[in-house]
Amino acid sequence: MAPSAYDVDRIRWHFPALREGAAHFDGPGGSQVPDTVATAVVETLTSAISNRGTVTPAERRADRIVVEARAAMGDLLAVDPGGIVFGRSATELTFHLARTLSSGWGPDDEVVVSRLDHDANIRPWVLAAETVGATVRWADFDPATGELPPEAVGAVVTDRTRLVAVTAASNLIGTRPDLPAIAEIAHAVGALLWVDGVHATAHVLTDVPATGADFWVCSPYKFLGPHLGVLAAAPELLETLHPAKLLPSSDAVPERFELGTLPYELLAGTTAAVDFLADLALTDPSLSRRARLVTSFAALEEHEDTLLAALEERLRAIPGLTAYSNARRRTPTLLVTVEGHDPQDLRAALAERGVNAPAGNFYAWECSHHLGLGATGGLRMGLAPYTNADDIDRLATGLEEICGARR
Ligand SMILES: Cc1ncc(COP(=O)(O)O)c(C=O)c1O
Repeated sequence: MAPSAYDVDRIRWHFPALREGAAHFDGPGGSQVPDTVATAVVETLTSAISNRGTVTPAERRADRIVVEARAAMGDLLAVDPGGIVFGRSATELTFHLARTLSSGWGPDDEVVVSRLDHDANIRPWVLAAETVGATVRWADFDPATGELPPEAVGAVVTDRTRLVAVTAASNLIGTRPDLPAIAEIAHAVGALLWVDGVHATAHVLTDVPATGADFWVCSPYKFLGPHLGVLAAAPELLETLHPAKLLPSSDAVPERFELGTLPYELLAGTTAAVDFLADLALTDPSLSRRARLVTSFAALEEHEDTLLAALEERLRAIPGLTAYSNARRRTPTLLVTVEGHDPQDLRAALAERGVNAPAGNFYAWECSHHLGLGATGGLRMGLAPYTNADDIDRLATGLEEICGARR
């Protein structure tokens, strides 16, 4: 077998949930979970564990789990594990840091958000700006192409901009903006770049320093792990920030940003998810985890691109179908509407056929409205590491039947 071979049958075997029989296109909302992740969670909960410490084996276990999870996320994002912050969700981490960062802003300051983004990377900044009297400036994407060109961000960045918040990939239409170019624009005026990597991290190999992002948030439940959120930033940058915290809790970085006791079982599951991703392609086990992630993500991208091309070809033949995922660089996440069919009806009819493809705006509220789809949104189909050709056929056949392209 070639060193980077992507064996989807082998991968699927690790997902007990797939044995229930549905074809899952709901990964952008939350992926299914491999057995190794579930086992890591269970083993943590059934082992002796207490708060982090060095005295008892239970304390040492908790400590080891935290250290290992930071290391795993460091490998996944190509960052210093000392700058990995765990939280309840990406939304919660963004609100938390928005409050912290904006405490230093005033009425002369500006923050830039984009209409391509999930509301989790808009509303925390809008509300934080409101609190301190700062101005919000909006970068618009082109609804026809789905592109957010760096110039659209540049047009609203001024020498008053303190922070630019933008997505690494739209969870609604998949668009992946040119982050290094946006970083250059932000940094040229001394602004920080906050990137929502929640959707992107599941599909493309992330190298946070290469993107130019100062902050990167993501959520392991989108990339085969458990439900929690992760923030990555350089430890030196985190040292300059002082979030609200309890008096007796650690003031060290990154702990000072982590409110309350960490969910150790979910951290163990996160490490297992990163390990699973590293082994998606059969790579040389003696290589570093980062090196295996590089190879595995290359194979994953190829796998998803091939399936996406097959799906798009079938969809193009469906009468009345409009596809909104048209950007040059994008994830395998498609948003469509079909003339004469309510997206919720399409979703329900697909569900009857054992195909899970949800419909809505998926909290990409501004994005959906900017596309002219209002709160209704469309039908979203997302590929995941376990998607296979049979899933694609079931989805396409289902849509053909429902939309009258096939009798
Ligand atoms: C692009 C994007 N950003 C943010 C979020 C919110 O993530 P969380 O549930 O971890 O707060 C989501 C969830 O769907 C998302 O897709």
